[in-house]
Amino acid sequence: MTRYMVTAALPYANGPIHIGHLAGCYLPADIFVRYMKLKGEEVLFICGSDEHGVPITIKAEEMKKSPQEVVDYYHDIMEKSFKGFGIEFDNFSKTSIPLHHENAQKFFKTLNEKGYISKKTEKQYYCEKCRRFLPDRYVEGTCPHCKAEGARGDQCDACGKVIDNVSLIEPKCKLCDSTPVIRDTEHFYLDLDKFQNKLKTYLDSRTWWKENVREFSLGWLKDGLKPRAITRDIDWGVKVPVEGYDGKVLYVWFDAPIGYISSTMEFFNRSGKPDEWKKWWQEEDSKVIHFLGKDNIVFHAVIWPSMLMGVGGYNLPYDIPANEYLNLEGKKLSTSRNWAVWLDDYLTRHKPDILRYALASTLPESKDTDFSWTELQQKNNGELADIYGNFINRTVQFITKYNDGRVGENPELRNEDNEFLDTISRKVQSIGKLIEEYSIRKATYEFMDMAREANKYFTVQEPWVLGKKDKSRLDTVLYVCMKAVVALACAGEPFIPFASKKLQAFLGIKNFRWDSISSVAVPSSLEGRELEILFTKIEDKTIEDEKARLGRKAEEKSAGKNENTLSLSEISIEDFKKVELVVARVLKAERVQGADKLLKLSLDLGTEKREIVAGVALHYKPEDLENRKIVIVKNLKPAKLRGIMSQGMLLAASSSDKSRVKVLFPDESCEPGDTIG
Ligand code: MF3
Ligand code: ZN
Repeated sequence: MTRYMVTAALPYANGPIHIGHLAGCYLPADIFVRYMKLKGEEVLFICGSDEHGVPITIKAEEMKKSPQEVVDYYHDIMEKSFKGFGIEFDNFSKTSIPLHHENAQKFFKTLNEKGYISKKTEKQYYCEKCRRFLPDRYVEGTCPHCKAEGARGDQCDACGKVIDNVSLIEPKCKLCDSTPVIRDTEHFYLDLDKFQNKLKTYLDSRTWWKENVREFSLGWLKDGLKPRAITRDIDWGVKVPVEGYDGKVLYVWFDAPIGYISSTMEFFNRSGKPDEWKKWWQEEDSKVIHFLGKDNIVFHAVIWPSMLMGVGGYNLPYDIPANEYLNLEGKKLSTSRNWAVWLDDYLTRHKPDILRYALASTLPESKDTDFSWTELQQKNNGELADIYGNFINRTVQFITKYNDGRVGENPELRNEDNEFLDTISRKVQSIGKLIEEYSIRKATYEFMDMAREANKYFTVQEPWVLGKKDKSRLDTVLYVCMKAVVALACAGEPFIPFASKKLQAFLGIKNFRWDSISSVAVPSSLEGRELEILFTKIEDKTIEDEKARLGRKAEEKSAGKNENTLSLSEISIEDFKKVELVVARVLKAERVQGADKLLKLSLDLGTEKREIVAGVALHYKPEDLENRKIVIVKNLKPAKLRGIMSQGMLLAASSSDKSRVKVLFPDESCEPGDTIG
């Protein structure tokens, strides 16, 4: 029997997970895996956090924490979010564990012994001010291909092209903004050119891959592959296992995919079968399937297969169902601008199934798609509540209220009943087939269509009329409706696992196989059972709040506040002493055009005049503040808000959801310029 070794891209442990990650890879992977497991296939679902590389060290520098502290912190947050969303990995490991370091070093050594690794002195950006080499992501500049600004040293997000060594236009050090110089440094290279022909044959043979993935990968081979540096001059990561290269580590993209294997080993070590991983990665009847977002394609379809071929004995990726990007409310998702819905945050207010379902219906499978809160509301109210929930509810209610909880055991099925039940079974089959083709959006529509058909049946059969005149027909109709409820409970599991499990528990369904959903038993009575409402409507107000929240988070970020940093780093007394709080008098307060939350305040600080921008306009009119004394943080780095330089921050108290905001007014006898502390 075929074994399916399914992986989802290891997320960098430098921040929480957002909806873009979920839609790009974790949700489709989870839906696929849940379905395959229900089908009875042998499947292993592997992931873990990607804990090395410059994304981590940059974050650590920002947070003034060690890289290990950063990755431990985010590993836990990510793991919780995945659990909260029902993304059920068999193992969620981490690449900073010794087992993984060993594995990565073994890969390197084997490739080196087999002659696939060479040494070369290369030019690299070096920042004289920071006195260090600047790896890819420490440098930003203009892309030499498409001329977009903000390209990284290794890749341009705008055009997706890889950027050759030191070829950025106007490079800048990301740490200090100065222009780096170019210096020589010695590095190890993976000789990709030696795999060119084998890769071509391999990619040509993968005829079943998604068009975009295969084309993109073959495109890489067109110009001829060149050796690629696989070591870096930083001290966080897997040490290069060669004497005399102490200061260097393996490039994160060299060690990360090996993390899939390490995570599998960890899983089997834990269950006392230390050799079992080999089956999944090395035996012919195993298929390795990598779910990921499009920016990861080249690493999985070109470089990773080269590493595997070089080491030998491993299966090459069987499939790489990569997704495009998800946008948010019409704009590109951005961590740096905090334009995102973070999963941990979402879970504090809403049910996971709703977002799973909304995203599953708009997955960027063949092109970029957009997520909006309004659409989530429509999907919830108009589909989960009004179609799916409604059908289940009206059936269950009818049976418990008007039929003494009896479902009717010996149904006499008519043609129309059989036709309806056939439609339901056909849809279940079609959902399965679509998921196997990674057409998860279509599968999601098909699932909701089951409920649509069921509502139609209910409406046409008019059980409320039958109740009075034809008891035995009523029994049959209710039985048929319950068959559909059972099918919905089972077939919904990949998409909305939480609601489905609740419904299954209500129906007494313990385990079932996908292919025999149509023969899962209907309980003969619902007496004494209770089903809570699975989906309730989301109010307009809630959606408005969510949109406002998005904007506010982005604004806070651009004003220099960073929640993640604050929550992790406790500031020392020494740091706190650096904060200068002073009394100021508001000379003038005015609204800021186009920003309904902001007021511009002109202040007298005793010895100087200043302007600040404060986010209090929803709570104070300009005249409420004019002539009053307030307290501000005086020595903040100025930040631009809506084009106005804000030279300080006013102190205010607020409720956690910011619905109540109160400015702190000092005693009237204070004078502008008085310091506080
Ligand atoms: N950490 C990478 C990213 O978030 C993905 C790594 S996938 C792996 O883009 F296979 F290399 F682990
Ligand atoms: Zn610098």
